[in-house]
Amino acid sequence: MKQIVRRIAAKGYRELMLRGYLRNVWYPRYQFQYFPRQLCFLADCLDRTADVDGSVVEIGCAHGLTTTFLYEYLADTGILKEYICIDTFSGFTSEDISIEKKQRGKNHDYGWEFKNNNVEWFKESLARRHITDIKVLKADISSLDDALLPDRVSFCLLDVDLYQPVKVGLERIFPRLSPGGIIVVDDCWSKSRHMWVDGVGEAYDGAMQAYKEFTAKQGLPQKFAETKLALIERPKTST
Ligand SMILES: C[S@@+](CC[C@H](N)C(=O)[O-])C[C@H]1O[C@@H](n2cnc3c(N)ncnc32)[C@H](O)[C@@H]1O
Repeated sequence: MKQIVRRIAAKGYRELMLRGYLRNVWYPRYQFQYFPRQLCFLADCLDRTADVDGSVVEIGCAHGLTTTFLYEYLADTGILKEYICIDTFSGFTSEDISIEKKQRGKNHDYGWEFKNNNVEWFKESLARRHITDIKVLKADISSLDDALLPDRVSFCLLDVDLYQPVKVGLERIFPRLSPGGIIVVDDCWSKSRHMWVDGVGEAYDGAMQAYKEFTAKQGLPQKFAETKLALIERPKTST
């Protein structure tokens, strides 16, 4: 009986695909949160830091799309590094949202975003691409145990959108950044419109504020690339 039901379901599913029903849901489409040039820029950062000591860290990895891209880029290039992913896997924390709303005057509905996630689903999805040696940490960057962070970081993609987690992420990663290392902070919009994206910047301008405050405090130059990426580079000669 089970087999008959399964066969009918499979036939129905095939029909649905062939006729294009519900294609809004299943038809493959580009799902990266970065435009192609931005992905190329990130890959270039991996090349530039290939010989730099330390791990690659992605803070805010969501469903692992950029994780897969960056990890496979490293593997394909022959760059052997520990890859660490950190995420709550349940969206923004109530503390971080509260800072946006109460201190930064935002009324954007951050509450439901990136909630459709689960650390096990994330690992399963990567495993389907044969990626099984990533260190995945389910944690709030603000309260993650210090001992779980690597001593040395060669490249970090800090993609947690809001003011507080970007601020804390910079404070925690910069001291670990090796000479020659690079941190890229996402959502630091240098213009409000790019390609067909309009107005995304305003709800997420906390990332830019945290980046500007941090670089000013540390006396670091501010560098921007590809419309929404901000950089921190530790010179090769520094200790
Ligand atoms: C824009 S998404 C990351 C996208 C991902 N880098 C990509 O390119 O596919 C932001 C992620 O940051 C995570 N996040 C938000 N606040 C966080 C925090 N305080 N600690 C850790 N992760 C956080 C969210 O759960 C979400 O998955």
